[in-house]
Amino acid sequence: MRMNDAPGARSPIGVFDSGLGGLTVLRALHERLPREDLLYFGDTARVPYGTKGEKTVRAFARQDAGLLVARGVKLVVVACNTASAFALDHLREVLPVPVLGVIGPGLRAALAATRGGPVGVIGTSGTIRSGRYQQGLAAAGLPAERIVAAECPLFVPLVEEGLEGNAMTRLAVAEYLRPVRAAAVDTLILGCTHYPLLRQDIAAYLGPDVRLVDSAAELAGAACEELAAMDLLCRDGQGGCEDRAGRLSFVLSDIPWKFAEIGARFLGKPIDDVETVGLDEMEAVGHALDRYEHGKDQT
Ligand code: DGL
Repeated sequence: MRMNDAPGARSPIGVFDSGLGGLTVLRALHERLPREDLLYFGDTARVPYGTKGEKTVRAFARQDAGLLVARGVKLVVVACNTASAFALDHLREVLPVPVLGVIGPGLRAALAATRGGPVGVIGTSGTIRSGRYQQGLAAAGLPAERIVAAECPLFVPLVEEGLEGNAMTRLAVAEYLRPVRAAAVDTLILGCTHYPLLRQDIAAYLGPDVRLVDSAAELAGAACEELAAMDLLCRDGQGGCEDRAGRLSFVLSDIPWKFAEIGARFLGKPIDDVETVGLDEMEAVGHALDRYEHGKDQT
């Protein structure tokens, strides 16, 4: 396994998440960059990440990103807020390709949307406890009384089970979002890539005046800029890029039952190119990344 073959304009963009949530980002990337091949990895064997600690999530994120790099991607998109909170800086240091996370784009979208009222952020326990969003909002000048944060740990399993619109989901939304509604936020950051799938349930509880923002569209724009700056965008003038439709392929670390079914509903197209990899392969990829990192240190 080699970690450092130079990618070209026809190389895929790699996207990873713990499970289904990153599909919200994949969809935005596919819409923004329709010629690009996208390779998605969902760590369905180890989802959720949001209830796990920093060290564990970082170790998983290394393997997830390592798998994508070993398959020749030109850019890694960390389509998971928890992994972005705990591992983005680390991945940027160790990987041989650029890495984009979702927290910066989510913050930019929120700052563009707020009308001067309080801003809420919801996410997994890991993301909210990391304080990344709250720090970002404070750094942009919001006083503490304009920042409201809430952990919503049951949202991810509800999404992975395809329960949007269900009575159980409505109960969980009311339970978790009570303080957000009480704070009269004008903008709410969906700080987990799974949560846009619950957008309608959340909007129904908070009402039409609250702007719900997520990082997907903003991130897709950033990916476009990053690739253009490296001259790796698949566009006219790049060999083999003319008039092509980008391919979506999927790799999962466990069986794709619900992933294929729910994912197809969400993407609006069948998910048929799905491969599963064992955790032994994930570990091997992690070791390959260790060796790459070690060799890099010696040069
Ligand atoms: N979708 C991910 C996030 O944005 C991870 C959710 C989870 O696995 O807990 O945080």
